[in-house]
Amino acid sequence: RRLPLWGAFVLLGFTALTAGIQAQTTLTRDNGAPVGDNQNSQTAGPEGPTLLQDAQLVEKLQHFGRERIPERVVHARGTGAHGEFVSAGNFSDLTSAALFSAPGKKTPVFVRFSTVIHPSGSPETLRDPRGFATKFYTEHGNWDLVGNDLPVFFIRDAIKFPDMVHSLKPSPITNQQDPNRYFDFFSHVPEATHMLTWVYTDNGTPASYRTMDGFGVHAFKFVNAKGEVHYVKFHWKSEQGIKNLDAKQAEMVQGKDFNNLTHDLYDAIADKNYPKWDLYVQVLKPEDLAKFPFDPLDATKVWPNVPEVKLGTMTLDRAPQNFFQETEEAAFAPVRMVPGIEASEDRLLQGRLFSYVDTQTYRLGVNNQQLPINRPLASAKNYNQDGMMNAGSTNSDVNYQPSETQGAYADDARYKASRLPLSGTTQQERIRRTMNFQQAGDLYRSLSAMDKDHLISNLAGDLGQVKSTKVRDTMLSYFYKADTDYGTRLSKAVGADPATIERLARAL
Ligand code: HEM
Repeated sequence: RRLPLWGAFVLLGFTALTAGIQAQTTLTRDNGAPVGDNQNSQTAGPEGPTLLQDAQLVEKLQHFGRERIPERVVHARGTGAHGEFVSAGNFSDLTSAALFSAPGKKTPVFVRFSTVIHPSGSPETLRDPRGFATKFYTEHGNWDLVGNDLPVFFIRDAIKFPDMVHSLKPSPITNQQDPNRYFDFFSHVPEATHMLTWVYTDNGTPASYRTMDGFGVHAFKFVNAKGEVHYVKFHWKSEQGIKNLDAKQAEMVQGKDFNNLTHDLYDAIADKNYPKWDLYVQVLKPEDLAKFPFDPLDATKVWPNVPEVKLGTMTLDRAPQNFFQETEEAAFAPVRMVPGIEASEDRLLQGRLFSYVDTQTYRLGVNNQQLPINRPLASAKNYNQDGMMNAGSTNSDVNYQPSETQGAYADDARYKASRLPLSGTTQQERIRRTMNFQQAGDLYRSLSAMDKDHLISNLAGDLGQVKSTKVRDTMLSYFYKADTDYGTRLSKAVGADPATIERLARAL
């Protein structure tokens, strides 16, 4: 049978349309409506002004003007990758955390690495600790291990954190980072001596995110099914080894490529050279805490000579498809733990339990856990509802608990928090066992001759800029107290009088 003429036209038109769709998809506005002209605004004739009714023009400009969200108040500059954690065994004697319940058990992860102080877009070569935040998507919900690449921290009480960050961030007057400001702050914080020593070694400028370790820094608690508690510290050990840049190398790299750490991670993954880290824990019984000359729940301290147990291995093998959605919208928070892992009484950690969710509610909104990168695999089932940008509200008449209703959500006593024996009164006092300098000295003494040279020159470079002799000499007395050779060499390097520094250090 012959095709009628109109039929041939329809067929031709249809073929042309599908060919067109295959070649290029029609551009639409956010409401899905096709756009007729994305190059020329609607105007009142050839000479007249632009018309407000041009929906495409208005939508484009409006959306563009809202592309930025607040950057993270710290750790703004980062990059991330997806991967998998594989448990090395069954650790149920220590913790009921499901991800550690069987050898070979796999848990998907997302990791975000970052610098700390410098803003989004700043060179990745700048001296700083590095963030190492891991989100484990476990069957009992997400566990965020929000760590750094160095084993300790500058301060031990969260109440000091905003002041510390203000001193390290650019001056509100000059908008420049200034050693006069942060050393003024640190001259009142002797417990920072250990962390400052770490940061001013070449560990402050890692060669690659792949070649650095990660640390949970704080003590956390492992709790098993019997309710028994152990205090633990987490350590990611890089299978790539540790590799840093010295000051000259950092300068050279920065001149060529200030996205060096992001490039390195993406390139390694594209080359299928997947980076791996082994996760270890140190374990202490609660009664062991009293046996140390320092407070083991103080985040400025490591636990020397406490053996490490290997929990498993993480491999990162997939770069994000969309940087904003998977890295910038990622919200890590130390408070997001799973049954079997709890916070210790560490005063720094206790503040962090509040701060991250609070800032993310501002940075990303109250429903940030519904964003794809943050959404738990075990879907959230609760009666939190509504709020800005909600996309997962309850769809039942019962939006309260408890309820008799069949299928309503109920709490489960198996997941109750562990118990902590307490006595005494409330107080506002510093911790009893401070031991501010010993571990900084131990670290200095453990360094190679070259690493010591680099530490002295890196630190002298910044401390030498401090105009206040009082601030400079107080800082020097801390390093001297940690180790006499350390303090003497630094004093000479910045032209201070070693005898004065020794006298100040004796008074500490
Ligand atoms: C990010 C606060 C100490 C590691 C952040 C953010 C805040 C914050 C507000 C931004 C979070 C966001 O916008 O998503 C604090 C406070 C601390 C503290 C109040 C002390 C009281 C630490 C310590 C570590 C650490 C000790 C390491 C053990 C990180 C990391 C990030 C971060 C890795 C970036 C997470 C990401 O990649 O999104 N911190 N912090 N912080 N913090 Fe802390």
